[in-house]
Amino acid sequence: MKELMRNVYLKDGTLVTKSKYGSHYGEKVFDGFREWIPWRSKLAAMILKGHRLKLKGDEKVLYLGAASGTTVSHLADIVDEGVIYAVEYAAKPFEKLLELARERDNIIPLLFDASKPWKYSGIVEKVDLIYQDIAQKNQIEILESNAEFFLEKGGEIVIMVKARSVDSTAEPEEVFESVLRKMGERFKIVNHGSLMPYHKDHIFVHAYKSE
Ligand SMILES: C[S@@+](CC[C@H](N)C(=O)[O-])C[C@H]1O[C@@H](n2cnc3c(N)ncnc32)[C@H](O)[C@@H]1O
Repeated sequence: MKELMRNVYLKDGTLVTKSKYGSHYGEKVFDGFREWIPWRSKLAAMILKGHRLKLKGDEKVLYLGAASGTTVSHLADIVDEGVIYAVEYAAKPFEKLLELARERDNIIPLLFDASKPWKYSGIVEKVDLIYQDIAQKNQIEILESNAEFFLEKGGEIVIMVKARSVDSTAEPEEVFESVLRKMGERFKIVNHGSLMPYHKDHIFVHAYKSE
């Protein structure tokens, strides 16, 4: 068994997180581990593509676009001594996110629109990492406004970008170039890359707040 990151392993070729919890989205659970399915989670795909995050386990994370908590559940296994503020604005997936938050003590579910961070600024504190996966046209503006409220200089960012959500007519490569240019004006980009074959026409961008 190979350790890839804190509480993340490759076990007989399968990506897993060390976890004391049961299955959340149909993933297999065995011997204190939960299978982390890269076709269901862009963060899992990013890790399998060789990119790692240096998490110690006690980080505070602001997660924008939590949906029903598939990726949140694994990130909560990783930052098991930290906290995840999980923002989602759609009521249906939020119900399942609530179920997850009830069994874990490090997930705070927030039914809010991520484009209005001032509405939850009284609840969310400064965080170490903003993870964003919201597939919206104005996703960079959303990231910038959340970074202004919740990230100090040096704070980390991981954003998942879906080309079609930004511009459904342009070539994905053009969309990615323009997103990277725009992000580079405000943040220091550490790395970026494709999520193929797990997620078509998606890239991850790993950056930090430089000013
Ligand atoms: C691609 S899904 C997220 C999947 C999830 N990150 C995972 O890996 O398990 C995108 C989610 O972002 C949510 N979303 C989109 N725009 C949002 C906004 N402005 N505020 C909050 N949630 C938003 C959608 O409702 C949807 O559930």
